Amino acid sequence: MIIISVKENVLKTLCERNESISGEALAKKFGVTRNAVWKAVEELKSDGYKINSVKKKGYCLSEENEKLCAEELKRYIKTEKIVFLNETNSTNAVLKKAAADGEKAGTLVISEKQTSGKGRLGRQFFSPEGGIYFSLLLRPKQEIKNAMLITTAAATAVASAIEKFSGRRADIKWVNDIYIDRKKVCGILTEGALTAETASLEYAVLGIGINLTEPEGGYPEEISATAAAVFGKERVNSKTKAELIGAVIKNFYGYYQNIESREYMDEYRKRSFLIGKTVEFLKDGEKHIARVIGIDNDARLETEENGKRVIIGAGEVSVKWK
Ligand code: BTN
Repeated sequence: MIIISVKENVLKTLCERNESISGEALAKKFGVTRNAVWKAVEELKSDGYKINSVKKKGYCLSEENEKLCAEELKRYIKTEKIVFLNETNSTNAVLKKAAADGEKAGTLVISEKQTSGKGRLGRQFFSPEGGIYFSLLLRPKQEIKNAMLITTAAATAVASAIEKFSGRRADIKWVNDIYIDRKKVCGILTEGALTAETASLEYAVLGIGINLTEPEGGYPEEISATAAAVFGKERVNSKTKAELIGAVIKNFYGYYQNIESREYMDEYRKRSFLIGKTVEFLKDGEKHIARVIGIDNDARLETEENGKRVIIGAGEVSVKWK
């Protein structure tokens, strides 16, 4: 039997509703004393939840509350199942394990902090408080011939959602980084498992990390010149965080249900700031400096170097701004 504490019950109730609820009503609901409710609220406040106590009305979650809770997330995000963790090593790692144990498609793992966030190409992804980190489990019904489509659909979904909530132009740096004012505000890592028999995708874990607010003490030196936060130093309340994730998931599902059509690729291209720029990259161990002339429907970068076309299907390029 799982025993839920008064504190957890009070938090759940406050996160589920918009209006205040009196200490008396909460006490009655959970069969405890008003003093026990008061104690639970005090504990929640010391955990970091901002709760208003209004005379004659009771308790409600403050508009300024920043700390997430599962029930509030569930109000704004439509997916099969939501798992909320205050802190974890990596939401991708948690969900990959769950996927291997048979977890259902549409499960979303969300955390406010990662101790071992994973980036592309074996890198670390700096994941302090102030960001939001989440992974979605996908079990594509039809075979997706090009797994890159998941990542590019996600980048398009995230960029539109960020722009909607921040009012700032969000661009995509091929393949899947989101930039605002030439700085990276979001990274995406899709990890998959193939079925042995058909080599088709058994599952994919789509992981998204968004820097919302600058962390206390700023970014580590290695990334301080290239990383930024969507809302800068501005505080972001829990409702906005939940709505933003909800918009990302909604946009993404909109593309995913018909992913092979690649309809979102026009929007992806519109947001891709590399087109027309000169980039540097390695291909087969050789250094190239080329001009990006387009991105094809399989999300490959089309470049031109000394009149010769060079196509890049994966990897990373660095941009020459001038
Ligand atoms: C990159 O920029 O290299 C990709 C970063 C991907 C980070 C996200 S945060 C949620 C999910 N869990 C992880 O450990 N990584 C992804």
